[in-house]
Amino acid sequence: MDEYGGSIENRTKFLFEVIDAIKEVMPENRIGLRLNPSLNGIFGMEADEETIPTFDYIVEKLNQYDLAYLHLSEPFNDVSKVPYLVTEIAKHYRPMYKGTLVINAGFDQEKGNKFILEGLADAVAYGKPFISNPDLPKRFELGADLAPFDQDTFYTPGEKGFTDYPSLAEVNAG
Ligand SMILES: Cc1cc2nc3c(=O)[nH]c(=O)nc-3n(C[C@H](O)[C@H](O)[C@H](O)COP(=O)(O)O)c2cc1C
Repeated sequence: MDEYGGSIENRTKFLFEVIDAIKEVMPENRIGLRLNPSLNGIFGMEADEETIPTFDYIVEKLNQYDLAYLHLSEPFNDVSKVPYLVTEIAKHYRPMYKGTLVINAGFDQEKGNKFILEGLADAVAYGKPFISNPDLPKRFELGADLAPFDQDTFYTPGEKGFTDYPSLAEVNAG
């Protein structure tokens, strides 16, 4: 085992080396980091008892940095039966992280506003709804209907399903 294996300190060393290397070439406060602490059983990721302590260690240590933001994802699937995982990521990490916290995964406007109002995150990121609604903030502002996304075109090449969804202005222009 080398210096990158074994202890939590060793296994997180590479992440901090990457951040430190990026800091050499651009301002620290322009670097964002995205983590998904309760990712389990998908994308080949298998969590274990050390997973959350590892992320806790990372997030605590990130307080020594002045990042643009830390972006955390709520669990992508139901982890309530997995005793060693966190089911509510923002609730768990908001008190721990002192910098700007972005949260995502499965949010709609109402849930996003709720998290902001409750102080659980500084910002909410939207993925799938943004794909099918290129003017998503405008639609939120207007309380307009959202266009549904088509999962069949998520991972296919070409513009179809990525850049061909119309904005409200384009819809209204016919
Ligand atoms: C077509 C597509 C491509 C994605 N590509 C990436 C990626 O390259 N890296 C990543 O971290 N997440 C990727 N994601 C995950 C999203 O960033 C996001 O975490 C996920 O869709 C849940 O948020 P949402 O419910 O707001 O969509 C992708 C999602 C979709 C639908």
